[in-house]
This record gives sequence, structure tokens and C-alpha cells, in this order.
Amino acid sequence: MPSDVPAHGYDFVVVANRLPVDVSLGDDGEPTWTRSPGGLVTALAPVMASTSGAWVGWGGSPDLELEPFDVDGTELIPVVLTEDDLEKFYEGFSNDTLWPLYHDVIEPPAFHRQWWDSYQKVNRRFAQAAADQAARGATVWVHDYQLQLVPKLLRELRPDLRIGYFHHIPFPPLELFAQLPWRVQVIEGLLGADLVGFQRAGDAANFVRVVRRLTDLTTRGQMVTLNEEEGHTGPGRHVRAAAFPISIDSHAFDQLARTDDVRERALQIRRELGDPEFLLLGVDRLDYTKGIRHRIKAYGELLLDGRLSPQSTTLVQVASPSRENVGAYQQLRDDVELLVGRINGDYGQVGHAPVQYLHQSFPMEEMAALYLAADVMLVTALRDGMNLVAKEYVAARSDDRGALVLSEFTGAADELTGSVLVNPHDIDGMKDAITYAVHMDARESRKRMRRLRRRVLGHDVVAWSEDFLAALNAVPV
Ligand code: G6P
Repeated sequence: MPSDVPAHGYDFVVVANRLPVDVSLGDDGEPTWTRSPGGLVTALAPVMASTSGAWVGWGGSPDLELEPFDVDGTELIPVVLTEDDLEKFYEGFSNDTLWPLYHDVIEPPAFHRQWWDSYQKVNRRFAQAAADQAARGATVWVHDYQLQLVPKLLRELRPDLRIGYFHHIPFPPLELFAQLPWRVQVIEGLLGADLVGFQRAGDAANFVRVVRRLTDLTTRGQMVTLNEEEGHTGPGRHVRAAAFPISIDSHAFDQLARTDDVRERALQIRRELGDPEFLLLGVDRLDYTKGIRHRIKAYGELLLDGRLSPQSTTLVQVASPSRENVGAYQQLRDDVELLVGRINGDYGQVGHAPVQYLHQSFPMEEMAALYLAADVMLVTALRDGMNLVAKEYVAARSDDRGALVLSEFTGAADELTGSVLVNPHDIDGMKDAITYAVHMDARESRKRMRRLRRRVLGHDVVAWSEDFLAALNAVPV
């Protein structure tokens, strides 16, 4: 059923699971919000500033019913998620079905029909909220795996819109995607968009292959043609699938890491750690896709083998809490904490632990100081759509020092060719790569870091959103 076009709609509408702020209700019932750190907000700031923009998303707490409110000229449109939605749509279908399925089934995905029902219901709610806000002919940009049905649902409500979708996480090969009992519905959902964007060319290719094998539609290169079925009159509609690797606000990060406060804090961190000869760093959401266990295992073996000295080496592992109601995340936390405890028990001394494990989140300033303090950054994800931590590390290193050990299973590996690439499943190979990075001579690490910085500073998140939106405008509709 087409929706009415609102009298005062917005020309540009973003739809994402989360709003760019975290909202909570004060004792007086008044909402207070804090800006959530995140590239998407920065990426879209120029577009939002030049047009009338709205952002449809969830405020981050259950059962929060709020009126739309304005933050820096963008209208935020809160969508309610109930406790039941959180359990079935968010923790269930999004993060216990799709997340593991799309990350190489590192953990087994769970398939539950009630979760799927909830996913459909919540996607309908987001689609309706977007339909209620968009002006005639507006551009709507839908984000990520939580909302894959929104493009189709929105097109049914509002055929006048130009709809883009960006998939922030990997898109799996057909052989894995085919496990999903609702695979055709998900594909049809995505094909409601005019442009479907992915992190890597390989993700886009996986998607096109899935379309070819699971539907009767015609594909040609990156283009899928719809509405060619018998009886349809008029031209077919085209959907383009292509790669748009996301980035960070590189220049802002570079500037932040150059400030006196951050530099001083970086020196202080090293001092507080007892001035280690080698400081290694891992920064991740505590997620089984990030390869934290593999990394710590490799580090522990390097200490055991005597290739790294526990007296002069420290690994700082920041693991920010994430999706704590999902079983696989609870198990991961236990596993990581057991491993860290063993290594510190075996190799620690009074006043010195070889692993500094922080199950916390930190503000950007502290992260920049940690990046600047670290000799070697370890990004060893088993699968990752992009991995922005790798890019942040590079953006912070205006001193052209430091080395990046990077998993070939991240999207970032396609771009960051100055890194030391590793297969995190190969523990011996990873140990060699870490040793190589630790002992890399200054000339080589400078050369590599300059190359990395050219890429990261030359392609920031604003360029990413401009590329995507230009391509969306160019798709024939
Ligand atoms: C990944 C996803 C995002 C998600 C983020 C944090 O980066 O691509 O869509 O928002 O993780 O996860 P959370 O479940 O806390 O939103």
C-alpha cells in the first residue's frame, strides 16, 4: 500500500539501526543524548548540511518512545525497539543469525522462525518511518545487515524515492548464504534499492552470484535487471552492486593525534607501562570475528619460545564490551579472560603483566594516544567487512613510525598494502609476522607507513559517501 507523501518531507533520509546519538531518559523524563563516535555521522555531515536531512534509527535503549528532535541541523527520528524486539530482532536474527552467517560461520548461526518474524516486523517499522519522512523524489540511504528488507518495503510504500543501501559487513559466498531459510526474501529485500554498496569487490561479486543462482533475474556485470518477467510492460529496473570501501575522518584523526595533550598522554602511557622496549596493541569490540584468541595465543607462544621477552614486551588489548546478551559473546569473553590470566600468571612479575587487558571503551583522545604509543598494531580479524581500527592507527601516525600487522581477511587488506599481511589461522605465520614487525628497521617502517598514510589520508569517509551518492544518482531509474 503506497504511503502518502508528507507535506514537509526531507530530501535526504538516512536509515540505520542506530541513531548517531545514544539517548537516555533523565529522572525528569526528559531525553538527554550523547553523540556516539562513528564514521557515518562525519561522512554524512556535509550532505546533511547542504540539504534538509533526517536520520531514522533506534536510540539505543529498549522501549524508548521519543518525539523527533534536532541535533546540529539533522532531524533525528527515533524508532522504538521493545525488549522483545531486542531479544528477537537485534540479539537474535541480526546478531545470532546474520552476523555469524555473514562472517564465514566462525560461530554457528542459529535459525529461528520467531526471530525471522521479528526481523520482518522491525524492518517494516523502519521502512514506514522512512516513508513518513521522505519528500517526493528524495534520496534514502539505508545501512547495514539489520535492515536488509527495508529497501523493498520502502519502495512498495514510496515508489518515487531513490534508494541506496550500504552493507558494512562481509557478504558471504553463495555456499554459506544458501543456508539461510529466508535467503530469497533477503535478496528481494536488497534488490529494492537502486544501488547496493559493499566494502570489497569480492562482496559485490558474491552478491551478484547469489542473485544469479537464487533468482531468475538477469545479471550483467554489476547490473541486475528486474521487471522483465512475462506480462510486465515498460522498461526493466536496474540495480547496481559495487564496492565502496568505507574510511574514517582521517584528517580529524591525524590532527587529534598531533595535539600536545595526546602526544603527552602517549608518552605517559609508555611510562606507566614501565617503558617497555616493545609495545604491541590490539583494539577491538569483543567479538569472535576479531581473532583476539588467535592473536593472544600467538603472543603467548612468542613469550614461551623466548622470541619476545616478557620483561621488555607488553601487549595492550582493548576489548570493548559488545552484544553481551548473546551467548557466543559471553563464551568469548570467558575464553579471552582465561587466556590472558594464564599468560599473565605464567610470565608476569610483581608490577608487570605482559598482557594489559581492558574490557572497556575509551574516548577518541585516549585511543589516539594508545595508537601513538604502540610500536606494533595487531589487527588479526578472522573476517571483517573493513576494520576501521587499522585506518585509525595509520591516521594517528604522523610521525611515520609504527608497524601494522593486518589480517588478509579484512576489507582493509585490499587497500593497506604497506602493512604486514597475515593469515590469523596460521599461528606460526602470525608469530613470524609479529616478530618481523617488532624488529622492522626504521627505514622500512617509515616507507611502509608513508604508503599507508597516503592511502588513508587520500581517501576519507567524506570521499566514501560522495562516491556512493554520486553512483546512486547515476543509476538509471
Ligand atoms: C558493526 C556493524 C554495525 C554495528 C556495529 C556495533 O560495525 O556493521 O552495524 O552498529 O558493529 O554493533 P552494535 O550491535 O553495538 O550496533
